[in-house]
Amino acid sequence: MTDPAHPSSPPADAAAPASAGEVASPAPAGDVADRAAAGFRQRYGAPAAGRWAAPGRVNLIGEHTDYNDGFVLPFALPLRTVVAAAPDDGDRWTVWSELTGDQVGFGADEVAAPGRVPGWAAYVAGVVWALREAGHRVPGARLAVASDVPLGSGLSSSAALEAAVLAALVDLGGLDLPAEGRPRLAQRAENAYVGAPTGIMDQSAAIRCRAGHALFLDCRTEAVEHIPFDLAAAGLAVLVIDSRAPHRHADGEYASRRAACEKAAGLLGVPALRDVAAADLDDALARLDDDETRRRVRHVVTEDQRVLDAVALLRAGRVRDIGPLLTASHASMRDDFEITVPEVDTAVEAALAAGAYGARMTGGGFGGCVLALVDADRADAVADAVTTRYAERGFRAPGFHLATPAPGAHRL
Ligand code: GLA
Repeated sequence: MTDPAHPSSPPADAAAPASAGEVASPAPAGDVADRAAAGFRQRYGAPAAGRWAAPGRVNLIGEHTDYNDGFVLPFALPLRTVVAAAPDDGDRWTVWSELTGDQVGFGADEVAAPGRVPGWAAYVAGVVWALREAGHRVPGARLAVASDVPLGSGLSSSAALEAAVLAALVDLGGLDLPAEGRPRLAQRAENAYVGAPTGIMDQSAAIRCRAGHALFLDCRTEAVEHIPFDLAAAGLAVLVIDSRAPHRHADGEYASRRAACEKAAGLLGVPALRDVAAADLDDALARLDDDETRRRVRHVVTEDQRVLDAVALLRAGRVRDIGPLLTASHASMRDDFEITVPEVDTAVEAALAAGAYGARMTGGGFGGCVLALVDADRADAVADAVTTRYAERGFRAPGFHLATPAPGAHRL
């Protein structure tokens, strides 16, 4: 999430995916890294000490379960953000962004308390703040940021930025912060410094994913299992459809869903909705008076179970068979959690009608992306079908990416 909260994001088009009907391969691997390095040299007049990359993500299944202490199954995209960086003297941080063309500088005062750096640079300042809060001696630094992760599309451009900056500062300062500890810290930057009440999924995906695998994450314990997800071997592809739906009140709606879940857990006397077992769902629902609350709870409890079922199928090598779980997840988000919009529902329906094994909205909701599991040789046909249905309904043309599981944050 938080793309919508991105206080001074350029329009999503600034880094838009391919246009309607065209299935885009991700940008060539070297490009974004070269742009970050060239931007650094141009801006600061010397080469960077290094470059660090972190990816955007899609979530295969497990939506709005992370802040309920439940399960998620994201994977990293080949679309990534790259930070070129070098140490600077003292407590001074300067960051330039290719997307906005802005250069923002801040010092110890601005990272002494949350909220003092506004706009996109808040994600950078938030990481510095969170590291210092955790007792690390953060080196001053100059940074240049380039990215292929589209903003405002629900592919977690903000977590990619946080993860890449964090990796850079940890390496430049020789800080003792293993990868397992980094998602919590990046989440803290986002929750407390930027002020977006997100869970831990996006930062975990940006940091801990592995190429060729989906990340099965228990959001309570932060235990992970890397689940092989070899689409090509199964003759399959994940088509990511950018719904291009304008985000409608996404931040307020996200916060209100989270509050409803926390309230329901309190009413049920459990620490979090994760503690309601699927087998006990009917009993739990019978104890709630309000129909809306019952539907919110039913989404979270059934979605956790769908993640576990999907993991079991993937462990058994049955990739195609997760399709119905994806589609059931979408129905649950649409009918029970009420976080979809007409554009994403249309994309899901059109993809299924064109032969997708399953399709669902991915991410926080109220717009963003849909993913569809398709035969690899049908990806173009499914994309065309979605584009046609969009045109019939008078929606702005969708965008497309093919997603293959890529690695989490690393030094290049
Ligand atoms: C956004 C948030 C995540 C998660 C998803 C919904 O992406 O950043 O923490 O809650 O929405 O699954």
